Amino acid sequence: MKIFVTQPIPPAGLEVLRRAYPDFQMNPEERVLAPAELVEKVNGCDALLTLLTDKIDDELLDAAGPELKVVANMAVGFDNIDLAAATARGVLATNTPGVLTDATADHAWALLFAVARRIPESEKFLRAGKFKSWGPLLFLGGDITSRTLGIIGAGRIGHAVAMKSRGFNMRVLYADEVPNAKLEQEIGACKVSVEELLREADYVSVHVPLLPSTQHLINAKSLRLMKKTAYLINTSRGPVVDEAALAEALKNGVIAGAALDVFENEPLVHPELLKLDNIVLTPHTASATIETRSKMATMAAENLIAGLAGQKPPNLVNAEVWGKQRK
Ligand code: DGY
Repeated sequence: MKIFVTQPIPPAGLEVLRRAYPDFQMNPEERVLAPAELVEKVNGCDALLTLLTDKIDDELLDAAGPELKVVANMAVGFDNIDLAAATARGVLATNTPGVLTDATADHAWALLFAVARRIPESEKFLRAGKFKSWGPLLFLGGDITSRTLGIIGAGRIGHAVAMKSRGFNMRVLYADEVPNAKLEQEIGACKVSVEELLREADYVSVHVPLLPSTQHLINAKSLRLMKKTAYLINTSRGPVVDEAALAEALKNGVIAGAALDVFENEPLVHPELLKLDNIVLTPHTASATIETRSKMATMAAENLIAGLAGQKPPNLVNAEVWGKQRK
């Protein structure tokens, strides 16, 4: 079996893979392979262990050739994979749900606190030697306790973010296509429309997958619906937020602040956002804890091994391919 891992992943995952397939190949460098390099590397492979930064499209799948049976993505999101293209070729595609829920939700909270209490901005000020005395007007931010939290997308991660608000006695609103009865029972969360949520929430945290229907879900119009004192947090996928519109809104005081872990054109960040103080930016690290990344790597390796062994991978995302998969 020829297996290719597109970048070094945590040792726990490599160990699982090594036990089953000691001769797997891996790009040894911690960098995204350019499409041309990837095309070359995947040729003749039976399985690929990929990352959200690898574009798995028609071209790549054709370059891999007819032996390719599994694409095991080390991420819960799989918008980097053209699922229809994989399914059409009988290729199994898998993801890593569940294991990164808490780490990602924790990071959403870290961002919420950082932007509301102006942590990066005030730390920079202090390190620059500008802290001369306590001041009644120094770095005033937003209250968190007893405020309203709005969750757009109440799936696994959105649910976890909402649950963590219990310590802060918050009112929780959520918007989703499907009701989340558990969340309603557990903390009395209320399902509302996206528009109502944007109008009411002091903190809007986004947790939707990237789909044609969620692209630029947060745009100039939706930002104008938000309170001037509200904050936007995005740990889902960058293109869900129109960065140019967000930069304008932050510059003009349409909302108080924002915190982003994901960007429209990663690794690029809209240059206007980089100039602003009322935004906190992290480099797509919401799931970046040692334990979580080890679990994600292990899960991806297990999915790959199951697929190659002719078993249904536990986290198959194109379920319709099962029964018609390449053998
Ligand atoms: C994912 O898994 O989709 C996150 O964006 C990275 O952990």
